[in-house]
Amino acid sequence: MNFENILVAEENGIGQITINRPSKLNALNMATIQELHNALESLEANENIRTIIITGEGEKAFVAGADISEFANFSVEEGAQLAAQGQELLFDFVENLKTPTIAAVNGFALGGGLELAMACHFRIASDNAKMGLPEVSLGVIPGYGGTQRLPQLIGKGRAMEMIMTAGMISAEDAFRVGLVNHVVPQAELLSFTKSLAQRIMKNSPMAISKAIKAVNANFKEGVNGYETEIRNFGKCFGTEDFKEGTTAFLEKRKAEFTGK
Ligand code: COA
Repeated sequence: MNFENILVAEENGIGQITINRPSKLNALNMATIQELHNALESLEANENIRTIIITGEGEKAFVAGADISEFANFSVEEGAQLAAQGQELLFDFVENLKTPTIAAVNGFALGGGLELAMACHFRIASDNAKMGLPEVSLGVIPGYGGTQRLPQLIGKGRAMEMIMTAGMISAEDAFRVGLVNHVVPQAELLSFTKSLAQRIMKNSPMAISKAIKAVNANFKEGVNGYETEIRNFGKCFGTEDFKEGTTAFLEKRKAEFTGK
């Protein structure tokens, strides 16, 4: 696949997507959002890919937000459409991927950038990363899930403060409040994230995809997460991965999972 705004690489079961507009601090325009959707869809369909990493090109930014130049003159309807389309194509799409998806936050993650990182299943930050939702400083609110996922991750009071002040927090503070799981020197960000991906990939892809579904069910309106867990727990018993995992344990050998 050919992309203008992103780079896609595949290595040892890991699909890496790098947002590649460094002169615009990797700001997300609609074309980039569409390309990210297409790349994620194709990695998800590829049986050899067992983890996805999303990062930004350069040493300065993961993503500095939605592309402000693109929506500055939008009407009320166009604004709502922008948020709805973005959420469907990218942010909800990432959250609901079956393949574990990690954000490697290598610099500024602002607005849509932080929203993209928050839509990923979890986040690792480099020590120079800075995160925030500056939308109210532009006279708008977060529109790619930020008002929902930030309180889920760090609690309502802290999220309210970040959103209202439009301020940025450091990687260390993001770690302290649980917004990122690890902080590492920038030079080690990708190698650290890949080694974590390798640990994930030793486990059953089938079980991991069902675990993602069950965890996400906790945050879906009208869905009972415990029931989702029970249903998916049961489904595991009919899979090859479950047979292989339990047999390998009893035979005292390493399991070879196929994801089926
Ligand atoms: N949308 C469009 N362009 C953006 C952008 C965004 N969200 N963020 C950065 N850029 C562009 C700048 O316009 C500039 O382009 P130019 O060189 O053609 O003028 C380029 O990226 C570099 O950014 P610059 O502002 O010069 O870098 P800086 O180091 O001085 O500041 C930031 C870095 C992140 C503090 C600053 O770029 C910023 O505040 N960006 C907007 C963040 C934001 O509000 N995001 C939420 C959007 S909803």
